[in-house]
Amino acid sequence: MIYQMYFSPTGGTKKVSDIVCKVWECPKKTIDLMKQEDLKEAGNLTAEDICIAAVPSFGGRVPEPVKDMFKSIRGNGAKAVLIAVYGNRAFDDTLLELKDMLENADFTCIGAIAAVAEHSILRQFGTGRPDIEDEKKLREYAGRIKDALDSGKGFASLLVPGNYPYREYHGVPFKPEAGRKCNRCGICIKQCPAQAISAQNPKRTDKEKCISCLHCISVCPQKARKNKKLLLFMAGRGMKKKCEGRKENYLFYKMK
Ligand SMILES: Cc1cc2nc3c(=O)[nH]c(=O)nc-3n(C[C@H](O)[C@H](O)[C@H](O)COP(=O)(O)O)c2cc1C
Repeated sequence: MIYQMYFSPTGGTKKVSDIVCKVWECPKKTIDLMKQEDLKEAGNLTAEDICIAAVPSFGGRVPEPVKDMFKSIRGNGAKAVLIAVYGNRAFDDTLLELKDMLENADFTCIGAIAAVAEHSILRQFGTGRPDIEDEKKLREYAGRIKDALDSGKGFASLLVPGNYPYREYHGVPFKPEAGRKCNRCGICIKQCPAQAISAQNPKRTDKEKCISCLHCISVCPQKARKNKKLLLFMAGRGMKKKCEGRKENYLFYKMK
């Protein structure tokens, strides 16, 4: 069985994962790591399974809640293809950390992809990506990994970029709050992967718990949740140099 697993608060990571997974034209089990019911379905894999695991890069790292999610999943030797999706700055240690996490969960990591998607906070960076050019590249990457798997020749141990200790990341100051349009429907409370929104008052976000993933903004039917405009403007200016120009997608794997 092919397991498509992803953590995608605003949909960019899922877009990349869908493009990659489409190359395997067979039934797949989709595990949205943000859904409790899907997480339970993931449970135990076998050595015959293939897992395509995709996460966004937050501060060049794997988003904090994903670490706990993978604690309840056992690979039992299943092969894993790793995907780190980044917003046109850099993915730093994301693939290395994801590889370490999956190996700890008893997966055998065979290949990895880093791909660009629109920056979920600063939408002016990586705008519209993955685009047609990215799609072509990602399909090619997935095809190469699939062909290598089908050939049965086996993979050499996977090397991905990254350093120890992992890049320090202490979060970003974007903590969305709800405005007057909020009708307290409770969707954001239920779906927040960090349980950062007050059950009593959804207009309150626990700034310590919030990971700034912006899932609450993307699921709010009232479009009531927002980041502060001035903060976005300032951050956009500050990040311009690091995020400008078209950043690349990358493929990592090695056959025996
Ligand atoms: C809190 C946070 C931190 C981020 N850090 C980085 C980063 O270090 N480098 C980068 O290139 N993009 C960064 N991004 C952009 C995301 O990696 C990118 O937009 C990704 O596609 C988001 O995934 P999603 O659309 O599935 O939520 C960050 C986004 C967020 C929300």
